[in-house]
Amino acid sequence: MYRDPVESLEPLHHRQAAIRTLRVGMIGIGTVGSGTFRVLARNRADIAARAGRSIELVMVAARNLERAAGIVGDSVALTADAMHVATHPDIDVVVEVAGGTGPARDWVLAAIAHGKHVVTANKALLAVHGAEIFAAAREKGVIVAYEGAVAVSIPIIKALREGLAANRIEWVAGIINGTTNFILSKMRDEGLDFAAALAQAQALGYAEADPSFDIEGIDAAHKLTLLAANAFGMPLRFADAQVEGITALQGVDVACAEQLGYRIKLLGVARRQAAGVELRVQPVLVPAAHLMAQVNGSMNAVMVKSDAAGLTMYYGAGAGSEQTASAVIADLVDVARLDGVHAAQHVPHLGVHAHATNALAVLPRAAVHTSHYLRVPVHALDQIQAIAAGLAERKVPVRQVALAAERPGVGPQVLVLTGPVEQGALDLAVHALQARAEVAGPVTTLRVESLEG
Ligand code: HSE
Repeated sequence: MYRDPVESLEPLHHRQAAIRTLRVGMIGIGTVGSGTFRVLARNRADIAARAGRSIELVMVAARNLERAAGIVGDSVALTADAMHVATHPDIDVVVEVAGGTGPARDWVLAAIAHGKHVVTANKALLAVHGAEIFAAAREKGVIVAYEGAVAVSIPIIKALREGLAANRIEWVAGIINGTTNFILSKMRDEGLDFAAALAQAQALGYAEADPSFDIEGIDAAHKLTLLAANAFGMPLRFADAQVEGITALQGVDVACAEQLGYRIKLLGVARRQAAGVELRVQPVLVPAAHLMAQVNGSMNAVMVKSDAAGLTMYYGAGAGSEQTASAVIADLVDVARLDGVHAAQHVPHLGVHAHATNALAVLPRAAVHTSHYLRVPVHALDQIQAIAAGLAERKVPVRQVALAAERPGVGPQVLVLTGPVEQGALDLAVHALQARAEVAGPVTTLRVESLEG
């Protein structure tokens, strides 16, 4: 009699696991948790078809049980004790969407210790405690999946882990914080002030519980840390990232950048250099005609430069309830498919060398090599050549010099675009420039990213 060779070789317990419902326990039912509940319920049949088994939310831990009951009804067991979900024997996978790096670390480690897979959208937790969490997961042979942690609706982790698996990645750059992109867009397009734009982002559920994580660039740096670990196989080096947010950004620079044909975006950049990796988040000028400059509102976009595929770009919602749920549930589908498969057969959820201690170092700020924009307040319009000459003397390649368009209440300003130069050399040149008699106030510098080769 003919017997399907796959079926006859597959151990019985694997086949049983493959048809059993995947039982999910969720910690947190805020913006992301409630979206996950809704999408799981709405698309139940399609999700089950893709997962090969049904995925059931069986338990939720929430701080406010009454509010949680209002969302999930009586279909799901509720508890105020997150650790109960993390350790409960009837749960196969724990979805951690409560956020924070304190108790969330204990819950995730407890879930792993109890042999459960973990799906999380908690970028801060993984960027800060990821080394410990992934080591524990490796030991136990369970999955920690986190597509929702980075550029929520964009499957960028899957793109790096699987879609681009053939490539040596050269750089990854992206708008990876929805809140700040929303604020910059509102300020530019509608003339809203910073505080009003931030308040709108908070009301729409885009911002972190502590919005300083968004506006100071910390959230983007958490995500960049995860991207770099995937792209380059390096350890999670959040503490070494250079992080600058948008709070110090001045409206006059937004306008002057436009005058030169650029837009200012908060960009996370991880770039491989001969001596290490640049890992940085900062407001930068991107050419106004570039696709990245057209990414507005709470949308995100990530570009990847790799040796075989070349330049690829990914675009989608960077924040939001169901937008994040989409990624969380995609991870649940992966877990449903891979549960019972030996961990050695999974494409790893971190770069292949991410656990090596001698892996790529993060370059210091002084070694970062980019073009720059300078805005130099001067006493008189005819001092433009003196400024250009002062920079050239210090071996800073000057590509373009212009006078800023006149603005009420703003004195004469010389605008400079440089060619690529190391940050250390530029800092010395700016220091010298600052001391010149022609210079009437603090010189502002921002990096320029061409996002091309
Ligand atoms: N606060 C984050 C953002 C949420 O604005 O991008 C999504 O990670």
